[in-house]
Amino acid sequence: MRSLFTLLLITLLWTSIRAQEAYLSLNVDDSQPTISKHIYGHFSEHLGRCVYDGFWVDENMDVQKKDRIRLDVVEALKKINIPNLRWPGGCFADEYHWRDGIGQRAERPNMVNTHWGMGVEDNSFGTHEFLELCDLLGTEPYIAANVGSGTVKEMNDWIEYVNYNGESTLAKLRAENGHPEPYNVAFWGIGNESWGCGGNMTVEYFADVYKRYATYAKSYPGAPIKRIASGANSADYHWTEVMMKEARRHMWGISVHYYTIPTGDWGAKGSATSFTEAEYFNTMKNCLFMDELLDKHIAIMDRYDPEKKVALAVDEWGIWTDAEPGTNSSFLYQQNSLRDALIAATQLNSFNNRADRIRMANLAQTVNVLQALILTDKEKMLLTPTYHVFDLYQVHQDAQLIPFSISTPDFVNGDKKLPAVNVSASLDQDGKVHITLVNIDPNKSITIKSAVNGIDWKKVSGKVLTSGKVTDINKFDQPEIVKPTVFNGAKKTKDGLSVELPARSVVMLELE
Ligand code: AHR
Repeated sequence: MRSLFTLLLITLLWTSIRAQEAYLSLNVDDSQPTISKHIYGHFSEHLGRCVYDGFWVDENMDVQKKDRIRLDVVEALKKINIPNLRWPGGCFADEYHWRDGIGQRAERPNMVNTHWGMGVEDNSFGTHEFLELCDLLGTEPYIAANVGSGTVKEMNDWIEYVNYNGESTLAKLRAENGHPEPYNVAFWGIGNESWGCGGNMTVEYFADVYKRYATYAKSYPGAPIKRIASGANSADYHWTEVMMKEARRHMWGISVHYYTIPTGDWGAKGSATSFTEAEYFNTMKNCLFMDELLDKHIAIMDRYDPEKKVALAVDEWGIWTDAEPGTNSSFLYQQNSLRDALIAATQLNSFNNRADRIRMANLAQTVNVLQALILTDKEKMLLTPTYHVFDLYQVHQDAQLIPFSISTPDFVNGDKKLPAVNVSASLDQDGKVHITLVNIDPNKSITIKSAVNGIDWKKVSGKVLTSGKVTDINKFDQPEIVKPTVFNGAKKTKDGLSVELPARSVVMLELE
C-alpha cells in the first residue's frame, strides 16, 4: 500500500515537472518572408506629454537639445533603431491643419486640442520640427493626414509642400521655411479611426471618401508614396471586408487598432502598477486575443488579395490602463511594468509570425503616453521595461522569418488557462539565428527542448528581461529595476538546444 502511494506520488511529481516542458522545432527555410523593420514602428501624437514636454521641451529646460528637441530621448531611441514614427495622431490628426504649424513660430495660431484635454496647442511643433526629429532619429516619418475635418485639397497641398522637388509655390514656401530639398515622405495615413474620432463614418461611406482622398494623394517624381487606409476598430471585420472589396487597389496598406485593456472595460481599465494574479491573467488573455483578431482580418484580406500585395498595418497597439493617479486623465500617462514588457514581447512575436501580411506596426505611444518606451520628469528620463523589449527584438528587423512548431505548457489561473510560451525566430543577413521567447507564467520556469533544422550552429548566447514580480517598474529614483542581463540558461545539446526559461521573462537567443 505504502509503495503504491510512493509510486503515485512520484508519478504525479514527474507529470508536473514534465508539464513544465515545452518542445520547439525551428525550420530554417529560404522561402519565408522578411520581417519588415517597420513592424518595430512607433507613434507620437499631440496628446498629453508625448510631443510637448516629451520630445519637444521648454527652451529653458536644462537638457541637451537641438532647437527644442530633447537629445537624451533621441539618443535612447536611436539605440533601438526605431524604423518609423507616426504623427501627428491619432484622433488629433483629424483636427490638425498643417498650415498652422509652419512659418515663424510666434505667428502660428493657437488652437484647442479638443480630443485630449482642451488645452491650448501653440503649434510650435509642426511639419518641419517633426521631420527634423525624424532626421535626428534616423527614422522614416509616417504622416497621418486629416480626413475628418480637413479637405482633399489640404491633404494634397501638404504632400506637395513636403515632397515636391520643383518650382511650385508650395515648394518655394518650404524652401523659405528652411528646407529647399524635398523631404520625400513615403508613408501617408489617410484618416485615423474614421469609424470614431475621425468622423464617425460607416465603412460603406468611408470607402468612397477614402478613394477620393487616395486619388489626390499624389506621388511626385522621386517621391513615391504609400497610402495607408484608416482601418478597423479591433474586431470589426466588416470594416476590413468592405475596404478590401471596394478600395484595395488604392492602398499600400490598411490599418487595424487593438489595445489591451486589462479588465476589458473601457470605463475602468485597471491599474498600471497594482494588480492581482487573476487580473494579470485577464490582461494576458486580452493581449493574446490579438492572435485571433489578426488571423481573422488576414483571412479576409487573403480572400481579396491572395498575393498579399496590401499590407496590414497595426498602427496603434499596446496596453491601455487607467491614468496614473494624480495626473490629468486626458493625458493618458501610465507607468510601465514587467507585465507591459511581456505584452510587448508577445505582440511583437505575433506580428513577426505574420510577416507575410503585417508590414507595419506602431506602439502607442513613444514618450509619456500609454505604453511608453520612455518616461520623463522635467530633466529626468527613464527607460521602461517595454523599451528593453524593443532593444532585444531589434535583431529581427529585416531578417528572414523562421517558421516553427511548438507545444507549450499552460499558464493556469483557477479553471482558466493560456499558452505559457510564445516565440518567434529569424535568420539575419550574417547567418545568425535569433529566437525570442516569452514565458508569461508569473510563477513557473519552463524547460524548452528545441530542434533547429536547416542550419549549422556552434554556440548560443542570450539576454533575459525579468524581475521579481510582474508589477515591477522602473522609477525615476530607481531606473534600473527591470533591465536586460546576460542569459546563461541556454545550451547546445546533442539533440539541439535546451533552454531554462525563467518565469515571467523575455529571452532573446543568438545562435551562430
Ligand atoms: O493612442 C490614443 C488614441 O487611441 C488615438 O488618438 C486614437 O487613434 C485611439 O483611439
